[in-house]
Amino acid sequence: MASHHHHDHTQLDWEELAPLLEQGAEINTPALDQAIAWLRDDLLGSERAAAIGQVWDVGSGPGVAACRLAQAFPAAEVLAVDGEDALLRRARARAMRLGIGYRLRTHTADLPGGLCGAGTAELIWTSKTVHHMGDQRAALASLAERLRPGGLLAVAEGGLPTRRLPRDIGIGRPGLEARLDAVMEDWFAAMRGALPETADTVEDWPAMLRAAGLGHVRSRTFLLDLPAPADARVRAHLHAELTRFHEVLGDRLDAEDLTTLGRLLDPDDEAGLLRRPDVFLLSAQTVHTAVRP
Ligand SMILES: C[S@@+](CC[C@H](N)C(=O)[O-])C[C@H]1O[C@@H](n2cnc3c(N)ncnc32)[C@H](O)[C@@H]1O
Repeated sequence: MASHHHHDHTQLDWEELAPLLEQGAEINTPALDQAIAWLRDDLLGSERAAAIGQVWDVGSGPGVAACRLAQAFPAAEVLAVDGEDALLRRARARAMRLGIGYRLRTHTADLPGGLCGAGTAELIWTSKTVHHMGDQRAALASLAERLRPGGLLAVAEGGLPTRRLPRDIGIGRPGLEARLDAVMEDWFAAMRGALPETADTVEDWPAMLRAAGLGHVRSRTFLLDLPAPADARVRAHLHAELTRFHEVLGDRLDAEDLTTLGRLLDPDDEAGLLRRPDVFLLSAQTVHTAVRP
């Protein structure tokens, strides 16, 4: 008996998620730019960076990072790789708008296998994508293989859960966001469990990069710190994210938290996300890097 409440929500519809992904990545641009500057100025060095010819963004989604990479590496052709044509169309449209369309190519591929035949790169960026691969170690190994000798792999995975609200928001039980995170973690585990060829692994990213034959492993975390009161664009994004949470996972919250979430999403409620003065956005994204010998 299949009603939509009994659907398995671990299968993501990336095309449906496209606006949310793109908006989220745009808002995260200040943190992304810090990460790119670290790769370019500290890890590669500006002289080498200025000459880099092949940069890939694997699991690029709508191409926000691919375009920032193209802007940061002015001699580079950037290859945006993703499984979803609809997202790559957004990436191409973005590059055209920014006047860098001639330096962005796209490649539709089922990862991690679909990179054979794409050549090799001097810098590979992959953000929040390896965790969608059943065998994350094998995925890193296949990325490592696509690097030229001396090439740099940068994997944005892990960090801290995002915070948007104070612990006590004056409605419901304090600590709501920590309980939303717990629900998300269970969903995440189920999502991973349902992936093809799923393999459990200790998510020690530096160790996984070394096991892929890479060296000079580094990790650094970049903050996105947009203090309260958040502007309308950030509020609209947080509202869209929590609306999706409510739709997909709301039934896993207890009655009190579900009521609180409903009030947060109500555009007419003074205590809602769109109107309350204390809404902020604080997130921390870790980037792990390694070099092919
Ligand atoms: C969470 S999004 C990350 C997008 C972007 N890199 C960012 O950080 O905002 C994951 C991306 O990986 C892509 N993806 C997930 N599994 C894939 C697979 N097996 N093959 C190709 N692409 C995949 C999705 O289409 C999506 O664009």
